[in-house]
Amino acid sequence: MRIAVVGSGYVGLVAGACFAELGHDVLLVDNDERKLAELQRGECPIHEKFLPELLERHHGKRLGFTGDLAEAVRRSEVIFVAVGTPPKDDGDADLSYVESVAQGIACAIDDYKVVVEKSTVPVYTNSWVRKIMLLNGAPAELFDVVSNPEFLREGTAVADFLYPDRIVVGADTDRCAEVVARAYQPLTDGSYYKQPDAIPGPVTGAFEANLIRTSAKSAELIKHASNAFLAMKISFINAVASVCEAVGADVEQVREGIGSDSRIGRRFLSPGIGYGGSCFPKDLLAFRSVARENGCHFGLLDETVRVNEEQRNRFMRKVHKALWTLKGKKLAVLGLAFKNGTDDLRESPAVAIIKSLLKEGCSITAYDPAAMDRAAEEFGPNSAVKFATSSYEALEGADACLVLTEWEDFAALDLGRIKQLLRYPIVVDGRNLFCPALMEAAGLNYYSVGRPDVVRERPATITSLKEAAKNEAA
Ligand code: UDX
Repeated sequence: MRIAVVGSGYVGLVAGACFAELGHDVLLVDNDERKLAELQRGECPIHEKFLPELLERHHGKRLGFTGDLAEAVRRSEVIFVAVGTPPKDDGDADLSYVESVAQGIACAIDDYKVVVEKSTVPVYTNSWVRKIMLLNGAPAELFDVVSNPEFLREGTAVADFLYPDRIVVGADTDRCAEVVARAYQPLTDGSYYKQPDAIPGPVTGAFEANLIRTSAKSAELIKHASNAFLAMKISFINAVASVCEAVGADVEQVREGIGSDSRIGRRFLSPGIGYGGSCFPKDLLAFRSVARENGCHFGLLDETVRVNEEQRNRFMRKVHKALWTLKGKKLAVLGLAFKNGTDDLRESPAVAIIKSLLKEGCSITAYDPAAMDRAAEEFGPNSAVKFATSSYEALEGADACLVLTEWEDFAALDLGRIKQLLRYPIVVDGRNLFCPALMEAAGLNYYSVGRPDVVRERPATITSLKEAAKNEAA
C-alpha cells in the first residue's frame, strides 16, 4: 500500500518505519526542516530500540521523507495523522496542528483517501476533522476519517507496534475499515512473524495480532480511558505505599499480594515518584476536560492527578528527612529521563525534583545513560546541575545519592563502591531499585517508597554483606 504518515514525532516516526517494515511504501511528512534534514541524512532523532535498524533498512527504499503534504496525499491511499496534541492551559488538547493537517489534506485530495487519526485526541475529533475537510472543499464521497489510536510505549515502541495487544480501528463505514485493516494485515494474519528477519518481540511461536473494530467515538475513548486506567493503577499503588509507610508495612510485599490476583495483575503497580512522560499527564487532563464538558463527574481522574503530584513532594520530604538541611548540599542524581529506556525528559518527575532541589540551594551532579544531552539543554550551561560520565563519577564526594529513574544499570551498581564514594552513606531511592536488606548490610542509610527506612548506626562488615546476600538469594 502507499501510505503517508504526517508528523515524525515518536508515534509518526515509529509508525512510518514499522509500516515500511510491513512491506508498504511510506512517505513521512514533517514541516520541521531540521528534523527532515536529520532523517534524510539517515540519522535517528530519538533513542528507541530497533528504530535505527528499521530506518537504515528502509530509508531510500520503502521509506521516504518530505515536507510536501500535498504530494504525500496525492500519492497515498491512506494518510495517518500523527501530529502533536499538546495541552492548553485549561488541560484541553490543542488540536490546531490536527486542524491544519486536515485543511492541507482537503486541499490536495484528488481521489478516495482514508484519513486516520493516530495522535491521541479527544472524542469528537474524528467528526471535527470530517467537518473541516468538507469546509475546505473536500468532496464527501472522496474521503473517510478513521480513528486508530496508538498504544506504544517509549523505549519499546517498535516492539509494541509490531506485537500489539490490540489494534483498534474506529471506523463508521466498512469501506474505510477495510483499508486500515489491510495496512495491518501482515500482523493480523501472522505472516510478518514468520519472516526470518522480523524484529524480535515478546511473543514466541505463532502469533496473530488482534484487531478490534469499533465506532470512531469508541476508539477515541478507548485511548483516553486506557491511559487514564494505567495512570490510576500507578497512583493507586503510590497511595497504598503512603499507607505502608504510615503503618510500617512493605509495599513490595503488598504489591506481590495484590498483583497475584489475575483480575488485578502485577504490571503498572510499581510505586515511585509518580508517572511522567508525554502521554499520561497530558491525557489525564484532556480526558478530565472531555468528561467535564460533557457533564460527567469523574473525580477519580482528579484524585489520580493529585496523588501523582503529591508523590514528588513526598520524595522531597524524604530527602529532607535523610539530610536535614539542603542548602549547600552536593547531591548525586541517578536518572533524568521520565522512565528507563528513553532519553525523553517531557514531564519527567526527575526534572521537577531537581528543580525543587536547586531552589533549596543544592548543587547536583547527575548521570543518565541516555538523557544527558537533552538535560544539558533543559538546565542550560549556567545551572548548578553538572553531568558525570558514569554513575560512580556522579557519586564521588556527594552528600547523598538520589535515584530518580528506573534504569536497570543502577540496580546493578556495586553497593560497597557506592558507600565508599559517597561522603555520607545515604541513598534516597524514588524507584525502589535496591533491596533494603542488602543496603543495610552495605552500611548504607536507605530511604525508598512504601518500605521501612534503613538507618544504620554502625558501618558494615564484609561478613554482614555476605550474610545479607545469602539471605536475599534464599
Ligand atoms: C504510555 C502508555 O503506556 C502507552 O500505552 C501510551 O501509548 C503512551 O503512554 P509511555 O509514556 O511511553 O507510555 O510510558 P509508560 O511505560 O507507560 O510509563 C509512564 C510513566 O509511568 C513513567 O514515568 C514510568 O516511570 C511510570 N510508571 C510506570 C510507574 O511509576 N510505575 C509503573 O508501574 C509503571
